Amino acid sequence: TKRLLVQLSIVVHGMLSFSVDCIDRTYFPSSFLFGTATSSFQIEGAYLEDNKSLSNWDILTHIPGRIRDGSNAEIADDHYHRYTEDIELMESLGVNAYRFSISWSRILPRGRLGGTNSLGIAFYNRLINALLLKGIKPFATLNHYDIPQELEVGYGGWLNPQLQEEFGDFADICFREFGDRVKYWATFNEPNIVATYGYRLGSFPPNRCSRGFGDCRSGDSSTEPYVAAHNIILAHATAVEIYRSKYQIKQEGAIGIAVSTTWFLDPIIRGDYPSEMRQILGSRLPKFSGSDKRKLQSKLDFIGINHYMSLYAKDCPECGSVGPEGDALVLTTGERNGVPIGKRTAMPDMFVVPRGMEKIVMYMKQRYENIPIFITENGYPQSSDHSTPLTTLQGADVRGYFIWSLMDNFEWLCGYSLRFGFYHVDYETQVRTPKLSANWYQEFLDNSKLLI
Ligand code: NOJ
Repeated sequence: TKRLLVQLSIVVHGMLSFSVDCIDRTYFPSSFLFGTATSSFQIEGAYLEDNKSLSNWDILTHIPGRIRDGSNAEIADDHYHRYTEDIELMESLGVNAYRFSISWSRILPRGRLGGTNSLGIAFYNRLINALLLKGIKPFATLNHYDIPQELEVGYGGWLNPQLQEEFGDFADICFREFGDRVKYWATFNEPNIVATYGYRLGSFPPNRCSRGFGDCRSGDSSTEPYVAAHNIILAHATAVEIYRSKYQIKQEGAIGIAVSTTWFLDPIIRGDYPSEMRQILGSRLPKFSGSDKRKLQSKLDFIGINHYMSLYAKDCPECGSVGPEGDALVLTTGERNGVPIGKRTAMPDMFVVPRGMEKIVMYMKQRYENIPIFITENGYPQSSDHSTPLTTLQGADVRGYFIWSLMDNFEWLCGYSLRFGFYHVDYETQVRTPKLSANWYQEFLDNSKLLI
């Protein structure tokens, strides 16, 4: 069937309102972005080519036992060499936007003191130009987890406030080199994941934790996740300030952040951590200085929401002082009375809950004064269910939707064992084959219906 049968009452950007029982691309304004998303480390490969340096993820993936299937991302999807073919895949899907990330290790292999790598810049110029030739709008993320290893070892990664300036310089170069053509910027992707997995659970670089899970290095997980997060928040603000003061008026673009919606938006949009957070964490939560607060006033042009799942939450006051780090006031679970909250996926903790996307969009709308929203990621691994990813968006200013992911790719700690792509990738031959989901998206986006 060409149309998708769903019961929807939607109001999208442009404030058009419909009550419909089938929807397709034609129900959205033509300015609405429909795209797919990827990140550099997960797809590019070419891990040492054209003067790229090693990133902290290159190092981690070469340590035996760290990645579930023992793989690494030396080649990944070989997108660095096959980007034109991959853009043709996007074209055949019919998307009008593509979210990708820029590898810091390609642009500034040794941080700002080491100088800019023109070959890295040239690659993203080729990519961006090829996208534009096909009418696909580039939506760039500046940091999607990986940083140059030199910044990790030499500086101590996100624990060092100097990374704010390092990131600012990297962002400045990207705005200067690509901003004439890139009109959508996300500073960071899911910074809470870096803070939590890098500095509390210890499974992401730099593998710090205090409880000795696995063989993570000694860190203090009662404070370090908050210090790392604080520096990321200020690095974000540094980049936004640079964009606003040097580029935005001329380039007429928008800048935001892509989050999985836990504990980053209040400081970024409202200028400080929520008071509950300060009450619970006390002196463990860093403070913003006067000049930090001024920087944070640069705010955001949009919120990018990465939505994959929802969980039930339960108050747990008694956990307050005895949780893992003394701050587990809320317990979350994917099941209640043995009934899962949504459809299970190949990831044990991931349940598909379309109504959860609606809830989070409405919460963001209300808490942050109807700020424009993009769904910067939404997807799930290995399932034959192709039901609707859309939900009701009553009055929220939602401007785009990106499915994770264009093609199967390197899924961080799970290596190649999980497949999120519209296109199946045979990693031996690098052949991309459309899955049923690709056909579904293609049908959904088929603009020729406009003529019917
Ligand atoms: C969110 C991350 O941004 C992306 O890199 C990852 O592959 C997906 N979640 C799926 O786990």
